[in-house]
Amino acid sequence: MKHKIALMPGDGVGPEIIAEGVKVIEKASEVDNFEIEWVKYDNGADKYLETKELITEDTLEEIKKTCEAIYLGALGDPRVEPGILEKGILLKTRFYYDQYINLRPVRLLEGVECPLKSKTAKDINFDIVRENTEDFYVGIGGSVKKGRTKQGLEVLRELYKVKFNLDVDSDTDEVAYQIGMLSRKGCERVIKYAFELAKRKNKTLVTSVDKANVLNNIYGLWRKSFENVSRQYPGIQTEFNFVDAITMWFVKQPEHYQVIVSPNMFGDIITDLGAMIQGGLGLAPGANINPEGISMFEPIHGSAPKYKGKNTINPIATIWAGALMLEQVGRMESAKKIIDAIESVLKEGKVRTKDLGGTNSCSNMGDAIAKRIE
Ligand code: IPM
Ligand code: MN
Repeated sequence: MKHKIALMPGDGVGPEIIAEGVKVIEKASEVDNFEIEWVKYDNGADKYLETKELITEDTLEEIKKTCEAIYLGALGDPRVEPGILEKGILLKTRFYYDQYINLRPVRLLEGVECPLKSKTAKDINFDIVRENTEDFYVGIGGSVKKGRTKQGLEVLRELYKVKFNLDVDSDTDEVAYQIGMLSRKGCERVIKYAFELAKRKNKTLVTSVDKANVLNNIYGLWRKSFENVSRQYPGIQTEFNFVDAITMWFVKQPEHYQVIVSPNMFGDIITDLGAMIQGGLGLAPGANINPEGISMFEPIHGSAPKYKGKNTINPIATIWAGALMLEQVGRMESAKKIIDAIESVLKEGKVRTKDLGGTNSCSNMGDAIAKRIE
């Protein structure tokens, strides 16, 4: 059977890391006897600067009709104002396909140095399930000058349509605001995914992250949803952590965690910290999942424009994301082979990119992992 995958290399180091991911996936497909067809999409900074196009609904519909998943390098370019490509392509795609789960494994592999003194591979091995469509990411807000202003803001999704008709009366010169929004349905579905993940992996603890002691409206709903879903899983222990506290515990006692579920923005922040304790951004993969739709796989790091074209970046985050993609399209064995090969190359320690204290290139690393799969 053939898997058709949309390939979006993107900006900065995107094309070089994606090339290594493709190399490794193709090797796995050769060994396991299946075919991959890549359909390339050149969305990103160059295309935007030439044509003003970010990503069109036609493109998104075409991918939906013809491909099983999207493999993405990275987006972002210093020639474009921050936020345009990120919101216009990355977030647009996540929301369009309702990829409500952002799964980010935090695993320190053997052979990788951990910045935390005395922590080893057995201490850092958990999954962060980040909600991926709501919270402060819904993108509604505004700013008003002194006086009375009416603003209509809307969140239009497949899951719901919500409109805020605001009537702001202000006696100060300028006020800006951003609305964070959660829905009961939006919370429960991602929390359920976290519990199912825990069940599948025989984990015994699911931790919920929030800031309900201050932002009690939205994270109060998050908590109620968590409590509600957790009742369906009596065999799994639960706890609530405030987001500030969890950053402290990641450093002090990462071995405590098994599965963590977090609202979008806190999930963004804690997964960068998670990446660091697993050895760096070059090692951290991410999966934007809609279990019934199109999912998208990418490293959690950005486009690192400074390193563009230098062939020095570590491609492991992207290769690992490729393994998560194979899992999603049902190629469990090949996914495992890739992750085993990554582990084996790191453990051996002969091939190491700059971030790992070595002198090998991005493509050296891709070659070594592909070779290990044979
Ligand atoms: C990430 C990134 C994105 C996010 C940005 C680029 C929109 O930081 O994938 O973690 O905040 O989700
Ligand atoms: Mn981030």
